[in-house]
Amino acid sequence: MTRRRALLTLALAAALAGCSGSGERFHGPDVPFVATPEAVSLEMLKVAAVTRDDVVFDLGSGDGRIVIAAARDFGARGVGVEIDPKLIAESRDAAVAAGVGPRVTFLWQDLFVTDLGGATVVTLYLSEEVNVRLRPKLLRELAPGTRVVSHQFDMGDWEPDRAQTARSGHRLYFWLIPASAAGAWQSRIDGGEPAPLALAQQFQKVTGTLGAQPVAGRLSGERIELTAGALTLRGVVRGDVIEGEATAAGGAARRWSARRVS
Ligand SMILES: C[S@@+](CC[C@H](N)C(=O)[O-])C[C@H]1O[C@@H](n2cnc3c(N)ncnc32)[C@H](O)[C@@H]1O
Repeated sequence: MTRRRALLTLALAAALAGCSGSGERFHGPDVPFVATPEAVSLEMLKVAAVTRDDVVFDLGSGDGRIVIAAARDFGARGVGVEIDPKLIAESRDAAVAAGVGPRVTFLWQDLFVTDLGGATVVTLYLSEEVNVRLRPKLLRELAPGTRVVSHQFDMGDWEPDRAQTARSGHRLYFWLIPASAAGAWQSRIDGGEPAPLALAQQFQKVTGTLGAQPVAGRLSGERIELTAGALTLRGVVRGDVIEGEATAAGGAARRWSARRVS
């Protein structure tokens, strides 16, 4: 092989690796490019309450408009992930023209292989089927409290924390990535004996028992609220520890904590 041909082969391999991640076969887009109208892009970013501290990932970023708006109008940093290289080139040019080149990155990649670890906000305009396929990755890689906004499509049986119809008539769905609360916990309310708290979790919904008492509640990112009879438990889940307070009907709030034991 000539040196020139070897270099071309290497460049092609690198390009395909960039597009298909860890050696998986390149495939076409899961959904075609249809742009979110500019006004709806802005509404999506407002629904997610984007600020300059955020890193907004648009998965399937098309011509880059959501990522560019996040940087230009909200001061955020942005990452667009797009499988079509022509749209990536267009997005990079548009970012420079909008004066936000240094604040945004466009990755020519299959969104299913992108590392989502740095995102604080994820925006989607894909399809319900793709959203449902993406769901385990979102729940696995995004930190609790990360905001996810989808234009037009929901996530199957993962109910949104909020849904609204934009002034334009477009449907927007909002989720907070819930902390993990499932397992066996040792719960303690100040002044009381420790009690076993067993929790099962389906997305943001939580059910279980506190001692013999049935418990039900929900997660909102890291925040958990449980009702057990007349008792309300509110706290923040950080790994295997919950810190918060317990209130019985008519009573004063007492410190509540729980530690996951398995
Ligand atoms: C409906 S468009 C939305 C574009 C942009 N997010 C917006 O709202 O204006 C979906 C985009 O996802 C891209 N796409 C589809 N499947 C993809 C995949 N597996 N990885 C990365 N991009 C993908 C398509 O090429 C298309 O540009």
